[in-house]
Amino acid sequence: MKSTDVIMLRPMMPLVTEALDRHFTLHRADPAGDADRFLAEHGPRARGMAVSGVRVDGALLDRLPKLEIIANFGVGYDTIDAAEAGRRGIVVTNTPDVLTDEVADLAVGLLLATLRQIPQVDRYLRAGKWLEKPYPLTGTLRGRRIGILGLGRIGRAIAHRLEAFGVEIAYHGRSRQADVPYAYHASLLDLARAVDVLMVVAPGGPETRGIVNREVLQALGPEGVLINVARGTLVDEEALIAALSDGTIQSAGLDVFADEPRVPAGLIAQEHAVLLPHVGSASVHTRTAMGQLVVDNLVSWFSGKGPVTPVVE
Ligand code: DGY
Repeated sequence: MKSTDVIMLRPMMPLVTEALDRHFTLHRADPAGDADRFLAEHGPRARGMAVSGVRVDGALLDRLPKLEIIANFGVGYDTIDAAEAGRRGIVVTNTPDVLTDEVADLAVGLLLATLRQIPQVDRYLRAGKWLEKPYPLTGTLRGRRIGILGLGRIGRAIAHRLEAFGVEIAYHGRSRQADVPYAYHASLLDLARAVDVLMVVAPGGPETRGIVNREVLQALGPEGVLINVARGTLVDEEALIAALSDGTIQSAGLDVFADEPRVPAGLIAQEHAVLLPHVGSASVHTRTAMGQLVVDNLVSWFSGKGPVTPVVE
């Protein structure tokens, strides 16, 4: 395997680079260097590629004629044109399961932080205002109806956690799931009308781009809360900024943005928004497990055993 060329277009965690370096001939692009030159030099021989947040489209694949496998660091692979890879016979793998609990924990934490305005209250204390005037009273989780957009692994883990809070849970997704006790809504708009809190956990990509739009936000109503731990592209950010500014909804907790790492100034200006830098899976334990799965997929593939966690389109 050591003679197999594997490329990495953006830096990844040491665990991944060190392991890939041991198993393969690893070529790492210098983030400050000339990407075009790197591809011209190493693209023609690359048989494997490890990626994290890299846009992989037909134009890039044209430069990688021998590529057999793309190992993605993350369960979401919306940056990769998996259909195009499939047409070329290239396997795509992701890192499911190992991050489910971590992302679900963060989603619930973000929901509580947004309802109770925990970061804002912390800022209030640090600004020495404790005794100055009472802090405005915050929202509560009690009695809220929670809507989950996307009842996959992470959506289910969130719902399971929320059951402990005694809240009502409903969902919208590609289809009704027979084994859950939650109310199903065939359209996102119907779900938004029926709940106060919308938690976005569906995959990104062209099919879901901008589906949380002005109409959906209006349907949530003035006590509405939007939580997004999936992909920023699902939300029409301009509509969200307008909805927060004019009180169409109450607040938002966002771990993801449409054009990361850019966060629109209109969101930063919202005192009722809690904003995080895409940290859903960011614990040492989980990121290590994700990195190991990237390595395992490449090693397994080039040992002739097939991918461990292939993406099924
Ligand atoms: C994922 O795995 O898709 C996460 O968003 C990365 O943290």
